[in-house]
Amino acid sequence: MSHPTNREPIGVIGTGYVGLVTAAGFAELGNDVWCIDIDEAKIEGLKQGRIPIWEPGLAELVERHRGRLHFSTDLADALEHARLLFVAVGTPPTYSGDADLSAVHSVVAAMPASDRHALVMKSTVPVGTGATIKRVFEEQGKAGFRYVSCPEFLKEGSAVKDFLQPDRVVIGDDGDWAGDAVVDLYAPLEAPLVRTDIKSAEMVKLASNAFLATKISFINEIANVCEETGADVVEVARGMGLDDRIGPKFLQAGIGFGGSCFPKDVTALKQLAGNSGYHFQLLNSVIEVNELQKRRVMAKLEKNLGSLVGKEIGLLGLAFKPNTDDMREASSLVLSARLQAAGARVRAYDPVAEDEARKLIGGVEFKTSAAEVADGADALVLVTEWPEFAELDFSAVAASMRGNTVIDGRNFLDAEKVRDAGLAYEGIGRPALKDREPARTA
Ligand SMILES: NC(=O)c1ccc[n+]([C@@H]2O[C@H](COP(=O)([O-])OP(=O)(O)OC[C@H]3O[C@@H](n4cnc5c(N)ncnc54)[C@H](O)[C@@H]3O)[C@@H](O)[C@H]2O)c1
Repeated sequence: MSHPTNREPIGVIGTGYVGLVTAAGFAELGNDVWCIDIDEAKIEGLKQGRIPIWEPGLAELVERHRGRLHFSTDLADALEHARLLFVAVGTPPTYSGDADLSAVHSVVAAMPASDRHALVMKSTVPVGTGATIKRVFEEQGKAGFRYVSCPEFLKEGSAVKDFLQPDRVVIGDDGDWAGDAVVDLYAPLEAPLVRTDIKSAEMVKLASNAFLATKISFINEIANVCEETGADVVEVARGMGLDDRIGPKFLQAGIGFGGSCFPKDVTALKQLAGNSGYHFQLLNSVIEVNELQKRRVMAKLEKNLGSLVGKEIGLLGLAFKPNTDDMREASSLVLSARLQAAGARVRAYDPVAEDEARKLIGGVEFKTSAAEVADGADALVLVTEWPEFAELDFSAVAASMRGNTVIDGRNFLDAEKVRDAGLAYEGIGRPALKDREPARTA
């Protein structure tokens, strides 16, 4: 990619997954970026080249553009150099399920009166947040401050690629200079652009995540019916996914979705609807199906092992999905807690998420390889589909295990290979070997 020299400098407030990727991505496009965070240790580390998250390609991008990336804890640095201030602070769920906007509002409160600046909201916020912030600006005598909604759709694990090759860019604005400037910023990516009003842009983000979560809960329920009826959900999804009205993505049955976005955004949309007087029935089911799905592994283990008291259960993977160390709302959190409550001993290995997992999971013995997890285990549960687990020597695994149960929580392993090693393989929504009809040829 060419590196133009006259690109507009920008500010990015919040240097987490979204902020740092956005900053590095715009640096790649040629922009100088002032990155601001309240976390002094994070900013100090970034100044010294330490990347606080594990995200493929990010460290290289930050290193390549060190000259364009400026890190500071002082908002004034961004205000001095940039007109557009991207907001990428966290909006975690509150106890009620509503989005916690306290970080967003503290950024808003810190803005000075200005006719030269605009906030560009990347954080995922409820519909109406932009209108509220504009009202706050007016009440505080800062009506000149512009506001643009620019929701972020990157996926952890492929965030850098998603920034540079987005499916679309959504910009919600009031048709003023700030919206035009954000359109110009993204122009080099040549992505389909949806320029709309602020509320619609806010809703595009929430509705997109709610739809994807619905697709996952839908295929998980199909998987559960497959288990009752003897159909194989992998075959069913293959047949469904070739219909281009449906598409193959997000049709992988498993032990539920997690992560920092889907659970909180789906709940936030449900709450937003409820707060506005509308009961969003479908989303209630999507959430409930997902919670139950995380627990289905328990029944599978008990079917194979009987009581779990004193049983050694090994978890392969802990992160909410591969290629990230993000543990927020990971299915492994629920599973490890349920297993321990049932009296099992839990050991686990994740190629990158151990440090994050240690902050959130208690009572789990962390191992340094899948082979160590298998050694002496009564059962293994694949929780995260890290590629290295597909390459395991299952004969060696079988020889070192105390039991022979393998629950594939992501339908990721080669079932025949696992069974050929003498292990009892069970996936999600897939018939046991003895129930399967012989493969037919045309
Ligand atoms: N992570 C994702 O995959 C993803 C994808 C799309 C959208 N989003 C949304 O983007 C937003 C950020 O998510 P994230 O995962 O990057 O969060 P994160 O927790 O990784 O990062 C947030 C950062 O903001 C900083 N911060 C908090 N308050 C601040 C303040 N007042 N001033 C400056 N910095 C402050 C924190 O120290 C932290 O470094 C959320 O609204 C999230 O829903 C996330």
